[in-house]
Amino acid sequence: MEVMTKYKIHPLLEKRWSPRAFSPEPIAEEDVNEIFTAASWAASAMNEQPWQYVYAMRGTPGFDALWDCLATGNKPWTKHAAVLFVAIKVDTFSDTGKPNKWAMHDVGMANAQLLLQATSKDIYGHLMAGFGSDQVKELLQLDDNLTPVCMGALGYLGEADELDEPYRSREKAPRTRKDLDEFVRKI
Ligand SMILES: Cc1cc2nc3c(=O)[nH]c(=O)nc-3n(C[C@H](O)[C@H](O)[C@H](O)COP(=O)(O)O)c2cc1C
Repeated sequence: MEVMTKYKIHPLLEKRWSPRAFSPEPIAEEDVNEIFTAASWAASAMNEQPWQYVYAMRGTPGFDALWDCLATGNKPWTKHAAVLFVAIKVDTFSDTGKPNKWAMHDVGMANAQLLLQATSKDIYGHLMAGFGSDQVKELLQLDDNLTPVCMGALGYLGEADELDEPYRSREKAPRTRKDLDEFVRKI
């Protein structure tokens, strides 16, 4: 999906977007491992790497269980994703047990790298806040210092026209961003 920017950005950044239409093609295990490896090479405070990922391939009980945790609005289009995953934040530093204030930031960093590595392989990712956190915690039996941050769907691109509304229109809607002067200031 085309992006219009006044200033040139890297082609990989231009290419990344969050689709809803996925093709039936599965993702090879090797590629999934590459994608999560890219996540692990993100910067993080104290190199704590305060992230964990749990994933499942379509057609498995794990996938169905993760899919069941999604919000109603995310369920129809994620059925066709090749992979569903949960990004989890480790809330405390491993050596001191103190709260890691930067953990949410660092999970975001890891997720960004994950999405870009996927994009480089023509695999697209769509992150989702619309899921039941308690349901995920229960399903995965997460310890108290682990917090699900978001879920994600991965897959090769499918046909927008095969989506039902309102997803078809959303898939075709232009993508927009704030102007630079709305969020950057020089002092
Ligand atoms: C943390 C997070 C939560 C999101 N939650 C949802 C969601 O529940 N459902 C959805 O369809 N999209 C969700 N999105 C996707 C955003 O709507 C999307 O990234 C944004 O509109 C920008 O579009 P782009 O990723 O194609 O550039 C989420 C994205 C992020 C980063």
